[in-house]
Amino acid sequence: FAVKSLQTTLLNWYDQQGRDLPWRNTRDPYAIWVSEIMLQQTQVKTVIPYYERWLQAFPTVSDLAQAELDRVLKVWQGLGYYARARNLHKAAQEITRNSNGIFPSNVEQVLALPGIGRTTAGGILSAAFNQPLPILDGNVKRVLARLIALEVPPAKALNLLWQLSETLLEPEHPRDFNQALMDLGATVCTPKNPECDRCPWTFQCQAYHLGQQSNFPMRETS
Ligand code: ADE
Repeated sequence: FAVKSLQTTLLNWYDQQGRDLPWRNTRDPYAIWVSEIMLQQTQVKTVIPYYERWLQAFPTVSDLAQAELDRVLKVWQGLGYYARARNLHKAAQEITRNSNGIFPSNVEQVLALPGIGRTTAGGILSAAFNQPLPILDGNVKRVLARLIALEVPPAKALNLLWQLSETLLEPEHPRDFNQALMDLGATVCTPKNPECDRCPWTFQCQAYHLGQQSNFPMRETS
């Protein structure tokens, strides 16, 4: 597995083809956290205006912690999955109580907050602090499943996929590498009709070489 060339080609592609998204122009872990929670179940295009409005309403962790839950839910209104807003509010109160409103940079502390799992923690800490933590959201699972022509549904190979995400992660540029991986999945290595002629990874992609890119990831059989 030519890890170095996968890293280099992806980072070069991201330099040229990466998306300019609002949360990529900040290093504020609070703002990045908000974006990652919104993006868990909502598309980028929908999230952008909500993200901007949220940060105007609650510019800091402490502002969010002090707000009434009713107002928090009101600002969230339209995004759905309201547990996400409740967890943001609750976590902001914990952060205000335990660390004076400073968002933690320690992965164990971040994982202990409500609403944050491993991929969200990696997304936040790599983007905010350039920490070398892997991610594995739906887009990344698809990209990696195609790269190795994974013969089982991703849900059956989570340990392997996490390991692969960790192995591939470029240790000097974890922020850009993770953002690049998400962009690749969102814009090129899409669920239907992936645009392999625009992909920096075709030279190593096993699904592509089999001519089977649309048949991966394998679907769950019920
Ligand atoms: N989905 C989850 N996190 C994201 C990010 N930082 N950029 C684009 N899409 C995402």
